[in-house]
Amino acid sequence: MILPMYIFGQQVLRKQAEDIPTDYPNLKELIDNMFETMKRAEGVGLAAPQIGLAIRLFVVDLDVISDDMPQYKGFLHAYINPQIVEVSDETNVSEEGCLSVPGIHENVRRPVRVHATYLDENLVEHDEWIDDFAARVFQHEYDHLEGKMFIDHISPLRKQLIKKKLIAMQKGQISCDYKIKQNR
Ligand code: NI
Repeated sequence: MILPMYIFGQQVLRKQAEDIPTDYPNLKELIDNMFETMKRAEGVGLAAPQIGLAIRLFVVDLDVISDDMPQYKGFLHAYINPQIVEVSDETNVSEEGCLSVPGIHENVRRPVRVHATYLDENLVEHDEWIDDFAARVFQHEYDHLEGKMFIDHISPLRKQLIKKKLIAMQKGQISCDYKIKQNR
């Protein structure tokens, strides 16, 4: 089932998300729906707050870019109750976008590697270093669970330049080709 996307301006995107209990009802179905919603919107990552749930869950599909980056063939992961243990000193800059901020792309500096713990969709515990593009997507989605968005990382000047677009977005003046939860 495709779920409506919550857009910049919705309060849930600014909430600190809560840990998910292991007996959370219909978790498997929710994860399936998030993968389907992300695919329909042509995203590589989707966090639960973006579909209106302030819980610590996100999904990542890098298989869709595996024509360009073959190392990500079959990379489809759900991350439940993720924690960042530490990050690399080394950082890089790359352009990011977000399904909740349609039409805006900005350069963001982030650590290149991240040491994380999480549960997968089968509730198996993982403790690992994630690197390169997967680390960038992980950190972008992790931010959503902390009530943060990628535009929080950009310079005041860049933020000034996109301010009008963000205000319009908050008022619901946007067009995108996937289903959205209308801002009020
Ligand atoms: Ni995002």
